[in-house]
Amino acid sequence: MARAKRKVEPKETTEALLGEERVFRPLPEVVIEANVSPKEYQEAMEKGLRDPEGFWEEAAEELDWFKKWDKVLDESDAPFYKWFVGAKCNIVYNAVDRHIKTHRKNKVAIIWQGEPPEQKKKLTYYELYRRVNKFANVLKSLGLKKGDRVAIYMPNLLETAIAMLGCAKLGVIHTVVYAGFSAMALRERVNDAKAKVIVTADGLYRNGKIINLKETVDEAMIECPTVEHVIVVQRTGQPIDMSDGRYLWWHDLMEGVSDECETEVLDSEHPLYILYTSGTTGKPKGILHVHGGYMVGIHRTLKWVFDLKETDIYWCAADVGWVTGHSYIVYGPLICGGTTVMYEGHPLYPKPDRMWQIIDKFGINILYTAPTTIRMLMRFGAELPRRHSLKTLRLLGTVGEPINPEAWVWYYENVGRERCPIMDTWWQTETGMFMITPLPVALLKPGSATKPFPGIHADVVDKEGKPVPAGKGGFLVVKHPWPSMLRTLWGDPERYKKQYWEVIPGVYTTGDVARRDEDGYFWIQGRADDVMNIAGHRVGTAEVESAFVAHKAVAEAACIGVPDPVKGEVAKVFVILKKGYEPSDALDKELRQHVRHELGPIVIIKSIEFVDSLPKTRSGKIMRRVLKAREMGIDPGDLTTLAD
Ligand code: WT7
Repeated sequence: MARAKRKVEPKETTEALLGEERVFRPLPEVVIEANVSPKEYQEAMEKGLRDPEGFWEEAAEELDWFKKWDKVLDESDAPFYKWFVGAKCNIVYNAVDRHIKTHRKNKVAIIWQGEPPEQKKKLTYYELYRRVNKFANVLKSLGLKKGDRVAIYMPNLLETAIAMLGCAKLGVIHTVVYAGFSAMALRERVNDAKAKVIVTADGLYRNGKIINLKETVDEAMIECPTVEHVIVVQRTGQPIDMSDGRYLWWHDLMEGVSDECETEVLDSEHPLYILYTSGTTGKPKGILHVHGGYMVGIHRTLKWVFDLKETDIYWCAADVGWVTGHSYIVYGPLICGGTTVMYEGHPLYPKPDRMWQIIDKFGINILYTAPTTIRMLMRFGAELPRRHSLKTLRLLGTVGEPINPEAWVWYYENVGRERCPIMDTWWQTETGMFMITPLPVALLKPGSATKPFPGIHADVVDKEGKPVPAGKGGFLVVKHPWPSMLRTLWGDPERYKKQYWEVIPGVYTTGDVARRDEDGYFWIQGRADDVMNIAGHRVGTAEVESAFVAHKAVAEAACIGVPDPVKGEVAKVFVILKKGYEPSDALDKELRQHVRHELGPIVIIKSIEFVDSLPKTRSGKIMRRVLKAREMGIDPGDLTTLAD
C-alpha cells in the first residue's frame, strides 16, 4: 500500500474523523495474490445489488450439504426470514468432518496458547474430529437431545471449541457465556435458555492470576433449576470441591467414550446457538443463529475479506464469549480449513509485547483485533512492536468500534509495516458476519469501514426511512435480508420484530448512526440508543442502572457513556441516595464493588456523582441526553419535554 495523499498531523478523534482525507491503495503484491481480484470484487458488488439471492446461492455452493435447498430465501413470514429452505446440513460437517477425508486430515486446526508462555498445544483436524465426537457422545450419555441447550462458561480453551462443536454436531444449541461475566449474569442467561448442562473450568489464568471459575458457577447454581449437570474442565488444577453429585470432571467423562459419532442431519434453519447481548432494557437479548445461512455468511466473508489461504496461520485475538469468537475464531476458520490461533490470556501478560511475541512465535499471517486493544498497546510506544520482526504478517483487521485514524495509522505503520492492508469490519452479534468492510484490494480510508460487503444492502436513512444525502448523518439500516442474520430473539419473537424491523418499517435497524461520503464510504459514528460501547463491548445503560438500584443505599440511578481515550467509552453514573445515606468515598467504593460483582469487570465506571434530582420527562423517563450534554459541555437540544 502506498500513501496517496499527504500525512495529516494527529488530531482529536472526532475532528480527525471528520477531516480525514487520507487514502491508502493496496500494494500490487496484495492485489495479485488476493482471493478476489478487483474485477471480481466489482462484479460481485454488482451481482449482490442486482441479485442478492443469486450471490448467496453461489456462496452456498462452496459448502457441503446433505440435501440442497428448494428455495434460497423465503420471505413469506417476514421478518422471520428463512434461508436455503428445504436444505439439510450441519455446520460441524463443514467445519470438521469433511476435512478428515482430505489432505487437511493431519493439518493443524487450532493452535492454543495458554497465558503462561510455556503452555501451548496444537490440535490437528483429525484429533479435533475425534474429540468433538467424544464430547458429543458424552452429551448423549447425559441424555441431551437435538434442540436442548448447553451453557458454556469458559475462557479460550481447546475444550471450549470442542464443546461448541460437540453440541452443534448433535443439534444441541449452545450458549457461550463470557468467562468474565458475574454469577448473576451467568444465572440469568442459563435460566433464560433453560440449559440442562453447564460446561466450565476449575479456573482460568488472567494477568498472571488464577481466577476460580467454579466458585462463580456454584454461586449461579443456587438458582438454576434446569441444570442437571456441570462438566468441569481441569485447567489450573487448583483444589476445588467436586462433592456435589451434579458436578462431573470433563476428563473422566471423555475417558472410554467412543470417538465415533454420527453427525445429525439438520434442517438448514435448525438453531445453532444463542448468544446474549445488551439492549436498551436491563434484560439481555438472546440472539439466535442457525446452521445453514450462518455457515454460508461467515465462510464467504472470512475467505474474501481476510483473504484466508490454505497455508495461513490466522489469529483472531478476541474471546470466544463474543460473536467475534464464534464466527471468526471457531466456526469460520475451521469451515475454511484454516489454522486458527486461540490465546487464553491477557494481551499485556507477562509483558506489554506479548501479542507481538505470539505473532513471531507462530509466524502469524493475519491478525484481527480491536481498536481499544490497539490504543492500549500504543501507550507503550512503537518500540515494542518494532523490536519484533512481524515479517509474516500479511493482513490486519479491526472490529468493535470506530477506529480513530491515529490508531489506524499506528497499526498500519508499526504493526503492518506499511505493507498490510487493514480490514475495518463493521458488524454485530445480530448480523453474524462482516457487513460493512473492505476487501484487501479496496482503497482504504482510515476510520471508515468502507462499503457494504457484496449482497448487503446497507443504507443511511432518516426517521422515515428516506436515504440522507452524502455527508449527512442518519440511521444505519440494512434493506434486504442476509443469510447469517439473527432469526429471532430467544423466547421473545415480538421484541425481535419491534426492535429490529419496526423502528423504521420494513428495514433492519442496526441501532448505529453513520454517514456516507461522496465516494459511498460509510463512517460509523456510534450508537443511536442507550447502549454504550465499552472497549468494544456492548453494555446497556439500563443494565448498569438496575445493578446500581439493587444496592440498598441507592434510590435512583442514571447512566451515560462518556468518551475515554483507551476504552472508547466508559460509564458515568448519577446516583440519588435513599434517606439515611450520605455520599462518601467509602460508599463510592462500595458501589463500584457491588456493580463489579453484579455485572462483572467489563463495565468500567469512570465516576459516580451523587445528586439530589435527575432530569426527567413528564412521564418520568430519565433524559440521559440532558445529562450527557451537560457532561460534554454541549447544547442539550430540545428541552420542552423536561418536567422540571
Ligand atoms: C456494535 C456491535 C461484531 C463484533 C464485535 C461487537 C460497534 C462493531 C465496528 C466497526 C464501528 C463498530 C457498532 C455495532 N461496531 N464493529 N468496525 N466500526 N463500530 O459486537 O457487541 O454486537 O456490537 O459494535 O456500534 O452496532 P456487538
